[in-house]
Amino acid sequence: MPGTIELTAFAKDTLKGLLAEEKYLLPKYFYDERGSQIFCDIMRMPEYYPTSCEYEIFEQQSGAICDMIEPGQGALEVLELGPGDGLKSRLFLKSLYGRKPDLGYVPVDISAHALQYLRCKLQDELPGLQVNEKAGDFFHVMKQFAGGNGISRVILFLGSNIGNFYPEEKKNFLTLLSAMTNKGDKVLMGFDLKKSPTVIQNAYDDPAGNTRAFNLNHLLRINRELDGDFDPEAFEHCASYDPVSGAMKSFLVSKKEQKVHLARVDTTIVFHKWEPVYMELSRKFSPADIKKIAKDYGFNVLHHFTDQRNYFTVSLWVKD
Ligand code: AVJ
Repeated sequence: MPGTIELTAFAKDTLKGLLAEEKYLLPKYFYDERGSQIFCDIMRMPEYYPTSCEYEIFEQQSGAICDMIEPGQGALEVLELGPGDGLKSRLFLKSLYGRKPDLGYVPVDISAHALQYLRCKLQDELPGLQVNEKAGDFFHVMKQFAGGNGISRVILFLGSNIGNFYPEEKKNFLTLLSAMTNKGDKVLMGFDLKKSPTVIQNAYDDPAGNTRAFNLNHLLRINRELDGDFDPEAFEHCASYDPVSGAMKSFLVSKKEQKVHLARVDTTIVFHKWEPVYMELSRKFSPADIKKIAKDYGFNVLHHFTDQRNYFTVSLWVKD
């Protein structure tokens, strides 16, 4: 159409969020090159416990997890949503491959780059494993997997990434997960557990300021991709934990009345003094919360594999 410009999904989502009554941005857009780097720094800091806890679980209990999965005689496929560099899932695959050398592995990731890295790593470590990667948004890919292919499945969704979903997204995700599994199929899902609010608070508001930088980088991405003039210094990072719902919410709060212009989309955004932008939800769960979620979507919890401190659980489900 003449006179209109083709907006990217990033541009559309950003405008929608910043023009909403209660301003928000979507966490999936944190991960540009710089954002992914900062997230690596976050995963390495002592305050950010989820990564090391989940790693500990796979390092020490992969054998026990595989025993409980009981891979039978028939073909078996491990389908992983968002493996990233696969640091944790590679430990699991090694264990399972030892029991089932005809195993297939289907990693699904939005980043083709991450998938390529993973393929190289696996070629080194498990040269016989059949890898069949799929690049794309996993909501989209999950639709293609609905109904199954007659092969038993184990679905991996690690990192407590489920905690990032807003209620509606969580519902859509679990509905798709249910549609792509048949009776007896297994799910391995990582959940960050409810725990001392102080421990959680420190993980999302670290003294070195990595989490603050992670959030502010989202504004810098908007500046770059939408030709904006955000001044990151004019926003304060706020992390707030509600022990009742388990919602850890991150905000950037405008320190003053200000206008931000996004030239690429010809739009000015007005911020009132102390107006928040909701940046991310990182929900925490109790074992009872997890049991209810599983049940609501046709699964039974077989076991919770937890770390020594009981901060994190890798929950094993079976489809009814
Ligand atoms: C990758 C979504 C699991 O919510 O803990 C870390 C992202 N944000 N610190 C999380 C994140 C701020 C992380 N997840």
